[in-house]
Amino acid sequence: MTKVAFFDAKAYDKPSFEHYGSEHDMQFRFLETKLNEDTVELARGCNAVCVFVNDTVNAAVIDRLYAMGVKLIALRSAGYNNVDVQAAFGKIHVVHVPAYSPYAVAEHAMALLLTSVRRIHKAYNRTREFNFSLSGLTGFDFHGKTVGVIGTGKIGRIFIDICRGFGMKVIAYDRFPAPDSGIEYVTLDELFARSDIISLHCPLTDETRHMINAAAIEKMKKGVVIVNTSRGGLIDAEALLEGIKARKIGAACLDVYEEEADIFFEDRSGHILNDELLSRLISMPNVIVTSHQAFLTEEALNNIAETTVGNILSCFENDGICDNELCYRCGNIERCKKERKEKCF
Ligand code: NAI
Repeated sequence: MTKVAFFDAKAYDKPSFEHYGSEHDMQFRFLETKLNEDTVELARGCNAVCVFVNDTVNAAVIDRLYAMGVKLIALRSAGYNNVDVQAAFGKIHVVHVPAYSPYAVAEHAMALLLTSVRRIHKAYNRTREFNFSLSGLTGFDFHGKTVGVIGTGKIGRIFIDICRGFGMKVIAYDRFPAPDSGIEYVTLDELFARSDIISLHCPLTDETRHMINAAAIEKMKKGVVIVNTSRGGLIDAEALLEGIKARKIGAACLDVYEEEADIFFEDRSGHILNDELLSRLISMPNVIVTSHQAFLTEEALNNIAETTVGNILSCFENDGICDNELCYRCGNIERCKKERKEKCF
């Protein structure tokens, strides 16, 4: 039987994983705690660990898992910046869920944007108290505005289609522009200078960390709206706050935050929030924060469970080749074994 230590388990994870796992004699040990150097011992006796975005899978954790005989790290997310993939190479295979519902994330980005620009969150609170005043609720038309999309992969492209439906002009920046996509690619500087709205859909890497910083904000239009449903680390949150205080940034819609790991996904009401930067951002009238919920649709949860169970099965059965394996050689034509239909190691 395949035993999987399932870290950072939430009530909404269990039904779908139990359903797909039970079909394949797979047993999940649901653990509420996150995986890190202090909790790694909880995986003892399991052949695999299943982790999410705020588990810490660094070289030290990987070495301890390897020593206890864990053979597989199964990410139930698309992003994998929290896993030291290079340190895992040759020891433990790493798999992820490349796409579970890009629509869920792109639609949430638009939901945040509409809520913010049309002040729906304020109107909702007002009318609940029978305050029907319109004062302070003026928004702006999306039609004819320019949206700059950074990262034109699965989610970015769907977001682009949604924006075009609103009659917006779309410009984009991607390190690897998609040929023949009909997307108008521009430099990052041009995107900053021309966009009324900027939405982030690229992964967090050493190169993209703090790509939205004070220098970038300086280049943007006054009143720009920034949407981040990708990873918190793409934005230097202190610079964002300064931009908001200086009235340079018109609004920020954040589903992710750089220091979210110990805060998001939990009920902190009734506690004093120790993160002053996040408290200050939340207190701003033109900032909307959701706690990394862009992925959270029924369709996405089912796809995540089905793909993760499939990934685990392919790693432990037959030839052990899994299309969703990640290794630091992936994408490197010379060295990528996966592209030659071989195991990464
Ligand atoms: P994808 O891999 O399909 O697309 C990413 C795009 O970013 C690619 O076109 C790639 O060329 C581009 N890119 C890579 N490096 C870049 C750079 N330095 N500058 C600009 N563009 C660069 O990924 P997908 O599925 O569209 O997801 C995008 C991101 O969304 C993920 O990395 C993840 O961080 C985030 N995400 C957030 C979720 C949430 O619940 N908030 C859920 C799922 C994903």
